Amino acid sequence: MLSGKNVLLAITGSIAAYKSAYLIREFIKKGAQVKVIVTEAALQFVTKVTLSTLSKNPVYKDFIKNEETGQWNNHVDLGSWADLMVIAPATANTISDLVSGKGNSFLLTTFLSCNAPVFVAPAMDLDMFKNKSTQSNIKILSERSVEIIEPTEGELASGLEGKGRMEEPDQIVTIISEYFLNKATLKNINILISAGPTYESIDPVRFIGNHSSGKMGFALANEAQKRGANVELVSGPVNLETPENVIRTNVKSAQQMKKEITDRFKNIDVLIMSAAVADYKPVKEYDNKIKKQEAELNIVLEKTPDILKDLAKIKKKQVVVGFALETENELENARQKMKRKNLDAIILNSLSDNGAGFGYDTNKITLITPSENRKFELKTKDLVAKDILNFIEECI
Ligand code: C5P
Repeated sequence: MLSGKNVLLAITGSIAAYKSAYLIREFIKKGAQVKVIVTEAALQFVTKVTLSTLSKNPVYKDFIKNEETGQWNNHVDLGSWADLMVIAPATANTISDLVSGKGNSFLLTTFLSCNAPVFVAPAMDLDMFKNKSTQSNIKILSERSVEIIEPTEGELASGLEGKGRMEEPDQIVTIISEYFLNKATLKNINILISAGPTYESIDPVRFIGNHSSGKMGFALANEAQKRGANVELVSGPVNLETPENVIRTNVKSAQQMKKEITDRFKNIDVLIMSAAVADYKPVKEYDNKIKKQEAELNIVLEKTPDILKDLAKIKKKQVVVGFALETENELENARQKMKRKNLDAIILNSLSDNGAGFGYDTNKITLITPSENRKFELKTKDLVAKDILNFIEECI
């Protein structure tokens, strides 16, 4: 359940901080990416070099990254990068700050910005742990949906015996994996996603294509696998890495995409066609490169098969979602398209907003269903993917 997940590990000033090195390794062994935040006090126990070497990422401590240039670390970006945040070890002091909503350290502002699940693994001496303030702070965090990983009983750094030892790293990872297993909202669901453009050959050298980057479809595939779905991605020519746990098939033309998607259709639960499939292709594909001769060159085009329409016609249990990119009467045209193609929903991409559409990392969508139009703000494509998959979850 942790494969491909972005883990933000925050380390505070407790002797148990030495175990954080093992914790990073456990997460990485499970296929997660780890970024580390430390407090000043944590650096009394572990070094940045150890943590950055193990996590293969720079370690964050302060808001300012470079005093000379004014470059700063962005807590908001880091908070939205994370699929989960773990504060381990968490001292009584940090736990109290988390409750107060303070923002006077990089760790605290990142915690306040983070919408992902947060796990807190307390580590302190037994009396500090038993203290009513600590207990009341832990209770408040728990009521605010922060997951508390209870410390264990045993020998403490003070020489005393009791409850206060941070849970062992392998146990922390098991507890977090189980949490995600229980939240795997798309477990056993087979999702097929198409992405990218198609290339329709004119001759061995030229083709008709479009500017689709494939980023939206890849973000959808990544989010779906994080939610436990079995994900297949049929992609046109794009320059993107396959997300973890996703089976990818590459195609070039609309005809090839149709074949790959049709072959799989009867075994899937959800089809999301985010590919920008060419609507027309040359009637004739020349065997040799067309020579430059006349002032004009006419290429006759014919319609490609409408993959989405053809499959939605024969859908049974499948949820089928398409994308639309309109330049005029956007909402009305997209709604008509949804009806014409017999879809459960259509995602209207806006081209009229800065930062939305082809090539950008952000998108602004309206999710159109037979009963409503849901408008969303401009967001990263990763966050747009979450909105779309929340809708898919409602459907199934
Ligand atoms: O009709 P239009 O091309 O605007 O519809 C866009 C939607 O239809 C997208 O979801 C796209 O993936 C799909 N489509 C298709 N086959 C085509 C053209 C578009 O599946 N030949």
